[in-house]
Amino acid sequence: MASVPDQTAAVADATARDAASSKQDINPWSVSGEVGEDGKVKAIDYRKLIDEFGTSSINEALLQRWEKVTGTRPHRFMRRGIFFSHRDLDMILDRYEKNEPFFLYTGRGPSSDSMHIGHTQVFDFVKWLQETLDVPLIVMLTDDEKYLFSEKRTVEEVMGYSRTNATDIIAAGFDPKKTFIFSDFAYVGGAFYKNIVRFAKRVTYNTAKAIFGFDGSSNIGKIHFASIQGATSFASSFPHIFGEDEKKTASIPCLIPCAIDQDPYFRLTRDCASGLKFAKPALIHMRFLDALQGPGSKMSASDDNSAIFLSDSAKQIKTKVNRYAFSGGRETLEEHREKGGNADVDVAYQYLTFFMEDDEELKKIKDDYTGGRLLTGELKAICIDYLQKYVGAFQERRSKVTDAVVDEFMSVRPLEWKGNPNVPRADLVVPVTKPADGVASADAAGAPGEMSKNQMKKLLKEQQTAAKKAAKAKEKEAAEAAGDDEA
Ligand code: TRP
Repeated sequence: MASVPDQTAAVADATARDAASSKQDINPWSVSGEVGEDGKVKAIDYRKLIDEFGTSSINEALLQRWEKVTGTRPHRFMRRGIFFSHRDLDMILDRYEKNEPFFLYTGRGPSSDSMHIGHTQVFDFVKWLQETLDVPLIVMLTDDEKYLFSEKRTVEEVMGYSRTNATDIIAAGFDPKKTFIFSDFAYVGGAFYKNIVRFAKRVTYNTAKAIFGFDGSSNIGKIHFASIQGATSFASSFPHIFGEDEKKTASIPCLIPCAIDQDPYFRLTRDCASGLKFAKPALIHMRFLDALQGPGSKMSASDDNSAIFLSDSAKQIKTKVNRYAFSGGRETLEEHREKGGNADVDVAYQYLTFFMEDDEELKKIKDDYTGGRLLTGELKAICIDYLQKYVGAFQERRSKVTDAVVDEFMSVRPLEWKGNPNVPRADLVVPVTKPADGVASADAAGAPGEMSKNQMKKLLKEQQTAAKKAAKAKEKEAAEAAGDDEA
């Protein structure tokens, strides 16, 4: 009953090329499902990832606690196992309960101008989290990563993508008062760089090799990059938001919503955090939005037919879904009516689990499809309608994100948030406030390019104090050595 009869053959064809069976492989740079003896790619086994990565599953008890503590029904992504795994989410709930500060951190590697709907799912969820929890959000754009990990891209190119991707991300609807977006090329320096170097000192080449699979031919920038992605988890990297007193900021954790492939970075970060006496980041992990070709792969920006792009027209969306979306339907109408379709591998159905809010309606669709009452063409038509509306609404919001808006989100400035409205804020943070003229008053050491006179003075003073301390220590050592001589 597949609307495109030869699509199963096409998938089999593609997989036959590397017919050798292989295990599923999920890492920050590539994602592939297990290839079976028959040469076919299997759906990604997320349960197995929980075991392999040593994370915890998001279970019913945790969802119930979420609802009790936040007073908000868990997002459909949480209810449906799309965010399926976590590290220390309960700790974040503990803090929310007491209204102790924490922040949200997520990111994007700006590898091209063409973002697709697989990229925006995490951001849509983070927007909901920010609204629900009323906490600051930091979005990292790893233009340096995308330069280091590509043969061809130039520095100028990836910096351009940072800007256009920031525009797309802002279109998710974040609150500018609570959101800081930065590009590594622009923001690395100051307090952030201190944390990057502290991080780097704790990671040996052997550890980096074991976690990320580098070898002797990997450029050293790749090896070092983990320190940059990791150090963003520490509140003290953002003095313009959390203040400068590291004794206070050290205990402020973040919650990182991300796709599961980013977990290796943060496993390492959690280790380093302990050593540095910084709060460990908590995580909540998302599964991937399947490529149109089916489960076992994810949408790819470099393959036009694998993804629905945010710039696609309504007509392109319709054509792509009808032509490429892998179907769990049967070969013939009679067979489909009799035996029913398989929703678990059906891409149109999988997309609806992401986009359709109403649980009852979704369940009815599944029942009708597996019961043979709903046909592939009909299911695809429902999916197309949802996708067209989603992308249309995105384009509408995107058209309103001006250059000035992007500048605002990316400027080094204080943020404002309140957290849990029912509990007075047990604030450990020195509030960084904005005076009437709109310029940050805190002497935050932000990006070097943005350094005010005050910040510069402060940094020089810091250097002087450090120099004095070192001189004293040296004197003391010398005195002690002299004492030893005399003895
Ligand atoms: N490395 C990520 C990517 O290539 C970008 C990223 C940086 C990120 N920090 C993050 C993603 C935190 C999720 C959470 O897309």
